[in-house]
Amino acid sequence: MNETDAIRQRHSVRQYKPDRIEDDKVALIKAKIHELNAEGNLHLQFIEDADKTYNKLFNKVAGLGSAPSVIACVGKDTPGLDQRVGYYGEKLVLYAQTLGLNTCWTGTFNRKNITADISEGERLVISIAIGYGKEPGKAHKSKSIDKLTESKGQTPEWFNKGVEMALLAPTAINQQKFLIKLNPDESVEFIDKGGVLSQVDIGIVKCHFEIGSGKLQRTE
Ligand SMILES: Cc1cc2nc3c(=O)[nH]c(=O)nc-3n(C[C@H](O)[C@H](O)[C@H](O)COP(=O)(O)O)c2cc1C
Repeated sequence: MNETDAIRQRHSVRQYKPDRIEDDKVALIKAKIHELNAEGNLHLQFIEDADKTYNKLFNKVAGLGSAPSVIACVGKDTPGLDQRVGYYGEKLVLYAQTLGLNTCWTGTFNRKNITADISEGERLVISIAIGYGKEPGKAHKSKSIDKLTESKGQTPEWFNKGVEMALLAPTAINQQKFLIKLNPDESVEFIDKGGVLSQVDIGIVKCHFEIGSGKLQRTE
């Protein structure tokens, strides 16, 4: 399964089977995290036992309490951290999808209970629930291309492919508060229209756009 297939197959999953993730897959996830942390200057952590991370009422209602494991998205608290977490975290989410696992980005969780290692100067941005879903999830409703993009005249094929993948990106409460702007010099801008965790969303959207368009959008 390539990354485009993973994008098409990925949906947020909130109901999990009790099965733990097998050791060989845990090793692959940890190796991927090691690679992404080095590339993105992050401190993402795989926590095998999610334990009471998802015991908030909102989590219980959604079903997230069933998630066996969790990824803590931690990094040095510098400007741009949220966007980097979104960009590299989504690479991990898509990798997990290729391993047959399901995930859900989760902004609402019990920060006191997650057993993440947060050093001085670091910040825990968000968590990602991970495990084997009871079902694969379903496609989210999306705003139209017109509402999410801005361009003049005919748009190039690479841009259209990038936008197609960006529309499939998960965003907090499915808000899709972003605008992808194609400039006359063919540079691309990602405009944050605000909202909860919208900089994490922008990082995720950049990751998807890059996969679709083949043009690097890495965040610094
Ligand atoms: C930054 C971010 C925060 C999120 N927080 C939560 C959350 O706290 N609880 C939850 O159930 N889903 C959460 N989600 C999942 C979104 O609701 C979901 O991605 C969106 O509805 C689109 O659906 P999809 O992921 O199936 O495409 C979050 C997603 C993102 C990107």
